[in-house]
Amino acid sequence: MKALQSRQQNEKVVTELADIAVAAPKAYEVKIKVQFSSINYKDALGVTGAGRIFKKFPIIGGIDAAGEVVESRSEKFKPGDPVLVTGCGLGETHDGGYAEYVIESEENVVPREWGHKPIMKLTARQAMIFGTAGFTAELALARMLQNGQTPTMGPILVTGASGGVGQFAIRTFSRAGFEVHALTGKTELRSRLEKLGAKKVISPKDFSLKSRSLESIEYGGAVDNLGGKTLAAVIARVQLWGNVASIGLADSAELQTTVMPMILRGVSLLGISSNNCSRDLRLKLWQKLAAEISHDPSEAAGLDQFVTYEVSLEKVVNVSQEMLARKIHGRVLVKI
Ligand SMILES: NC(=O)c1ccc[n+]([C@@H]2O[C@H](COP(=O)([O-])OP(=O)(O)OC[C@H]3O[C@@H](n4cnc5c(N)ncnc54)[C@H](OP(=O)(O)O)[C@@H]3O)[C@@H](O)[C@H]2O)c1
Repeated sequence: MKALQSRQQNEKVVTELADIAVAAPKAYEVKIKVQFSSINYKDALGVTGAGRIFKKFPIIGGIDAAGEVVESRSEKFKPGDPVLVTGCGLGETHDGGYAEYVIESEENVVPREWGHKPIMKLTARQAMIFGTAGFTAELALARMLQNGQTPTMGPILVTGASGGVGQFAIRTFSRAGFEVHALTGKTELRSRLEKLGAKKVISPKDFSLKSRSLESIEYGGAVDNLGGKTLAAVIARVQLWGNVASIGLADSAELQTTVMPMILRGVSLLGISSNNCSRDLRLKLWQKLAAEISHDPSEAAGLDQFVTYEVSLEKVVNVSQEMLARKIHGRVLVKI
């Protein structure tokens, strides 16, 4: 099969198209013919070698995949079933979605169709427009609601707002009734982010990173894709009992703050790990996304606005480099 394989050569990661023998599924595994994958920040770090994402070499990257089961050694799935996989080690510990076929454990495979009447479904393309990015935004909302976040507590600040997770966080939180403020280095995208649901678009030059551990309260909560000084400054501005969902490290993996926001304001820093989400919650969140898309034709039509590129396997490395250089916004689909 055709696949984009990454190997290590003289300490560097080399990613190239290769012709690879297709394995057969083992017990409790399924073989999926991949129709679409996507490029997430983590994928970009992996295939370019800019980050240590891959846990083995050689490996096929791609943490997302959607397609159809072609062979099954699982009681849960049969050939022809429409399915998706996001995270769970795909394209990280084992071969991922940048290939014609993926072999995955039944535990990590999610159906793309549920129920009978009315049927809720996502096409492979729709599933990958959401991909890890849309799923993670949904997971952040679920965690924050579970921890008491309400719209009356104040606006939700989304950082790295033009990115895949950022744009879906704007959609997800505004749909749930929250006022969303978007912090972005790409203020030229203001009208796009407003259309997605942002009430206010903030440039980094208007957001002070010089921060004491407690500043005046500005936000009910936040969804952070950046880490580092931005995350510290955000935590300092969050409302009593507000939540900050820590998702990413696009700026830095460091976090320097004090316990003051936690012990004086009851602020919670919620860890979001889409890779390690329980299967029950994973299924519940994907069903919610499928219901939104199936029950409202305008939602289905609106999904395309998240896609900025649709590329073939040949273009994945180039586009990944552009993503790391902050030249990309929204979601990048990979058509297999
Ligand atoms: N925890 C999880 O389960 C999980 C799941 C998915 C993603 N993530 C992480 O979440 C982050 C976002 O992922 P993504 O796929 O949405 O990536 P993305 O599409 O590349 O978006 C990242 C955004 O962050 C901003 N940014 C990038 N580099 C920056 C820098 N050096 N300094 C400040 N801002 C920078 C840019 O937004 P602006 O130009 O708008 O400022 C960019 O669009 C990544 O760190 C990723 O690894 C974590």
